[in-house]
Amino acid sequence: MSQSLGGYNGSQVGNGTSEDYGDGSTGLGAPQPKHFAFDDESEAEIAKALTRYPPSRKASAVLPLLYIVQAQSRRHGNSAWVSTAAMDVVAARLEMPPIRVYEVATFYLMFNTNPIGKHHLQVCGTTPCWLRGSDEITRACRDETGIKAWRETSADGMFTMSEVECLGACVNAPILQVDEDYHEDLDYDRTVALLRALRRGEAVAPGSSIGRMTSAPEDGPTTLKDISPVGVE
Ligand code: FES
Repeated sequence: MSQSLGGYNGSQVGNGTSEDYGDGSTGLGAPQPKHFAFDDESEAEIAKALTRYPPSRKASAVLPLLYIVQAQSRRHGNSAWVSTAAMDVVAARLEMPPIRVYEVATFYLMFNTNPIGKHHLQVCGTTPCWLRGSDEITRACRDETGIKAWRETSADGMFTMSEVECLGACVNAPILQVDEDYHEDLDYDRTVALLRALRRGEAVAPGSSIGRMTSAPEDGPTTLKDISPVGVE
């Protein structure tokens, strides 16, 4: 059994903040916390991010700040998402209208505007991954989590599953992104093993699941074999 995550309905969003809505939401679907504040770790990250933009253009930092919000949400609550209260805080910090922050957060798929499971499974379904077996990755994820449809969360709250477009790692297809990490060269059995390890709370090393060296051929490099790896004399 799984639970569906509410969707964004742009027609419900006004021009102001979450206070425009009687239920404290902006129509983004989930019950919303009333308050949000950056913690010390986030403040340090924000200070770094803001150095990249002139003060008159600090609204350009909206993407990094939304990433910082999402990372803090994961640290504090096991679910990486961006609440409307957090978007309002980002808008105030960057001196931009809240609606501009809502627009960005709801446009980019990497931001979750509803709570998700502890781990976000993002299956690449674009042609190279599909040709290399992404349907088997999807099947393994569904069998192991009980999730039936995209954007659902498993009943135990451990996993949310999404389909995404090319992750830019086609050379080691098929790819499953788990949270921030890419797991590559997967098949049905290795995907099941990966999910079981995550459920047990084990750290799983990202990268090729068959031991491929970076993006070299499966049997090892065929060119530049006389060059030492960087940092090795
Ligand atoms: S098609 Fe899946 S990473 Fe490019």
